[in-house]
Amino acid sequence: MAIASKHNLIVIKDSAEAHEALVRGRKTGSFVHIACFSFYANKIITTGEGGMVVTNDDALSERLRLLRNMGFTTPRFRHEVAGYNFRMTGYQAAMGVAQLRKIESILVEKRLVAHTYNGYLKNIPGLQLPVELEWARNVYWMYAITIQPDFGLTRDQLAWGLAEAGIETRTFFCPMNQQPCLLKIPDFRPSPCPVADDLWTTGLYLPSAHTLSKTTIQQISDVIQALKP
Ligand SMILES: Cc1ncc(COP(=O)(O)O)c(C=O)c1O
Repeated sequence: MAIASKHNLIVIKDSAEAHEALVRGRKTGSFVHIACFSFYANKIITTGEGGMVVTNDDALSERLRLLRNMGFTTPRFRHEVAGYNFRMTGYQAAMGVAQLRKIESILVEKRLVAHTYNGYLKNIPGLQLPVELEWARNVYWMYAITIQPDFGLTRDQLAWGLAEAGIETRTFFCPMNQQPCLLKIPDFRPSPCPVADDLWTTGLYLPSAHTLSKTTIQQISDVIQALKP
């Protein structure tokens, strides 16, 4: 934000997975100009698809509302700007309101899932487990681990082993500097991103539904323990 302010830039933050996460007591998304949250089906709360943009800036808010609704101004059907149809349906909004009412209990369950995994996995060498630093509230959108060399299997080998046991997992996201669609852009200059590159090859999301039972988490952890050479 300091750099942005110096150069008169607007910061748009991707908070897709971070509903209700806290950084030094402040909600993620509250200390930038614009933050975007996802309501996709696997997010902390969902409307099936869609999302939310938040801002404290009235002018930006007005602009976003205009763009969302096809740039409609008055008189209707005159478009001062070319907007988009990004309107949320009433059905989705109703679902979102119901989800929002449950968010605190969902977060309690999400955090319990993470703490339960931590309990079962903490003594397995070679697994780096998620942490919560004292200045943050982690909402554990996914239970995210990385597989270090001393685990004895690569991330992919562990994921295959889990898949054979009927346990579905996901890798972390592919970093921007490796995205084929960006690399095709003539002037795109990929920067070295060693941390992101490493997370792309070592990161694994374990099943993370807030409804997971302690027994299921224990079974998944037991399979991981059994797969370790
Ligand atoms: C960090 C991040 N950004 C963006 C998205 C995309 O969100 P949506 O599917 O609502 O466009 C996701 C979805 O997983 C995400 O995790």
